[in-house]
Amino acid sequence: MACVGESNGLTFWVAEQKDYEDVMSISVNIYGGNDYLPHRYSDWMTEPDRVVILGRKDSKLVALESGFVVDEGRTLLVEGLRVCASERGRGVAGEIQRFADQYMQQLYPTLRTKRQTMSDYHSSESTKSLAKFTELGRRAILSFTGDGKSFNGFISHLKNKLNSTTGLDKAVSVQQMVPLEDAHHLKNILLDPELPKRVQLPGGVIIQDWQPFQPIKGNLEILARRNLTWLVNKLEKPNFLSFYTPPYPIAFDGGSLRFNIDMFGTDLDSAKRAFVSHFEKVMEKGLLTGKIMIHVFLDQSLWKEMKEFCAGETGLKLWREYWEQVIMERDVRGGAEGKRESNM
Ligand SMILES: CC(C)(COP(=O)(O)OP(=O)(O)OC[C@H]1O[C@@H](n2cnc3c(N)ncnc32)[C@H](O)[C@@H]1OP(=O)(O)O)[C@@H](O)C(=O)NCCC(=O)NCCS
Repeated sequence: MACVGESNGLTFWVAEQKDYEDVMSISVNIYGGNDYLPHRYSDWMTEPDRVVILGRKDSKLVALESGFVVDEGRTLLVEGLRVCASERGRGVAGEIQRFADQYMQQLYPTLRTKRQTMSDYHSSESTKSLAKFTELGRRAILSFTGDGKSFNGFISHLKNKLNSTTGLDKAVSVQQMVPLEDAHHLKNILLDPELPKRVQLPGGVIIQDWQPFQPIKGNLEILARRNLTWLVNKLEKPNFLSFYTPPYPIAFDGGSLRFNIDMFGTDLDSAKRAFVSHFEKVMEKGLLTGKIMIHVFLDQSLWKEMKEFCAGETGLKLWREYWEQVIMERDVRGGAEGKRESNM
């Protein structure tokens, strides 16, 4: 593969499968062991409309950023940004981002907007880059660790809690959320223009495991590829929507599975039921074994009560206190903004 650009002592390359080990070597300890890239790298190499850019200094890999074109060609989703530990704090992240933005705009002249998600935990370190973005919205993140072995007991415990709060007899199973298994139903719900308001999509986007997409036709195929398991509180005009992403391996605690549940809507009862239903489903499939890291992404108003709901003598241990996912956008059409940046 040929070099695609250079700037300030860095050369830029389009990543290939053979770069996997190099990429892993600059990814050690990223996101507290929660890094998704070891698992996703191969898929990224073949995903349509995705380009992964590598930055090298001499021949050594020092940085990576991925650009993924979504929203029917209008939006550049940037992900995976990382710089090797020895080169941090010297502006390398800025260099690779500037190059990747311009490279992607050349390949996809329809691009209008750049979007990214990040945790509020990183925000304070990146105020300068954040200042160029508009914040679209935020969600709270409830993060637990647990052991697959204890989950049957844990889920029975939660079901009992749900039954007792709804006054149902313990023998009666709790009212389930409605699975959305039919592609036609799912499509109608996602493309309903009222959806963003009814389920309070933050910034009007559906965020799937940190990837924010507008609920439009061109993104349905991307979501379908992700093999998600969807639930709504009702089929007609739902005001609560949730899905889980199939658990995948991460480095945390010597090797764990990461289980992400995304929720949209503010109804606490639906959030509790969705949590239990997702767990039941994923356990039926035998997908939660060994050490598990669970992240539930949800409306800020639900965090505290969901944390209390999940607290119990068995099951999950809170991994981190309240934290948030932030969704940000900026215009990429150059002009005045581009000029301002070069004068800084
Ligand atoms: C965050 C990280 C990529 C920053 O790399 P760096 O080269 O040390 O960054 P610097 O502090 O030298 O900042 C250089 C530029 O990158 C920007 N930047 C820093 N962190 C950023 C972030 N998280 N998102 C976007 N831009 C960021 C800075 O604002 C600065 O921009 P400028 O050149 O336009 O002024 C690096 O610390 C890293 O790899 N951390 C581990 C992985 C990670 O947390 N990635 C962030 C995902 S959101």
